[in-house]
Amino acid sequence: MDFQIAFDKRDLPRIHDALDRIVSSNKWTEGYYTELFENKWSEHNELHSVAFSSWSGAALAALDYFNLKGKKVLCPSNTFMATPLVTMHCGAEVEFVDCNRYDLCMSFDDMKNKAEKHKPHAIWVVHIGGHIAFDIEKIADYCRKNGIILLEDCAHAHGASWKGKKPGQWGDAGVYSFYATKTITTGEGGMLVSKNKDLIEFSRKFRNYGKFDYKVHGLNFRITEFQAAIGVVQTERLKDIISFKNEYAGKLDAIYPNHVKLPDEMVSGYYKYIVFDPIDNSTGKVYQEQCHRILKHNVDLPNSDWVSENHWCVPIYYKP
Ligand SMILES: Cc1ncc(COP(=O)(O)O)c(C=O)c1O
Repeated sequence: MDFQIAFDKRDLPRIHDALDRIVSSNKWTEGYYTELFENKWSEHNELHSVAFSSWSGAALAALDYFNLKGKKVLCPSNTFMATPLVTMHCGAEVEFVDCNRYDLCMSFDDMKNKAEKHKPHAIWVVHIGGHIAFDIEKIADYCRKNGIILLEDCAHAHGASWKGKKPGQWGDAGVYSFYATKTITTGEGGMLVSKNKDLIEFSRKFRNYGKFDYKVHGLNFRITEFQAAIGVVQTERLKDIISFKNEYAGKLDAIYPNHVKLPDEMVSGYYKYIVFDPIDNSTGKVYQEQCHRILKHNVDLPNSDWVSENHWCVPIYYKP
């Protein structure tokens, strides 16, 4: 099955209307649709939201706000290189943590070992494949008790929840990607979510060179009004996309018994449908190569290596 962007053709007239409105408004950035996209996302995610031109920009804003330059940050190795690279880019030192084999996400036990060893200021958790990291409650509790900042990489996790709690609600900040392959997309785009109003205010300045008092030294990470308009429509369509994918996943469960098994009351956004046996029509691996190997870190992460060798993705695309 060929890759298919999650877009419902019924939404095309709404996008056309928005494009007409933007063109005639003479406001192609930082306007009505950016604010509407943020408001819609806040309503869905139950957190304050700031839209960015990419995940990277939003992640940099959070890292800069927490002043992590020169500090240690724990990061799973089983993630996209974006997570360690953005952390290194802000001047922090990355230490890699192993994952669990059953959810492909950060292992609480290895996180605790690495936290005791490295005394990190912050920890990234990545919700791999669209489900919530199974150890998130324990990790969040540990971070709270030890004064460690918890950052959630929500790039895969649109529409996921666990007992009603949504990605970004465990940590100090969550960062979504709206890159073209994601569960919903604006072509390129990102969203920072948080309950921390001070971080939100900082981030809004960070994406726009610190305008207008220039106390925040950000760069240009603005999203265009065209992308934001697509984001509005896509956010409104998210519920349908998630229920379509969950229904489809239910059918796949019967065909592929050796799949990621979700705990009670967890809803996956099914960015990926992950199985632990080789299959014919796989779209490949979530990540073929572990970040600690790419960056040549001398650390033993047996579950991360195992995951690279032993999982595959069954195509799961929204086709209404
Ligand atoms: C886990 C993860 N984090 C971060 C990113 C980066 O997002 P963006 O491409 O929007 O910068 C991606 C993918 O694109 C990702 O899969």
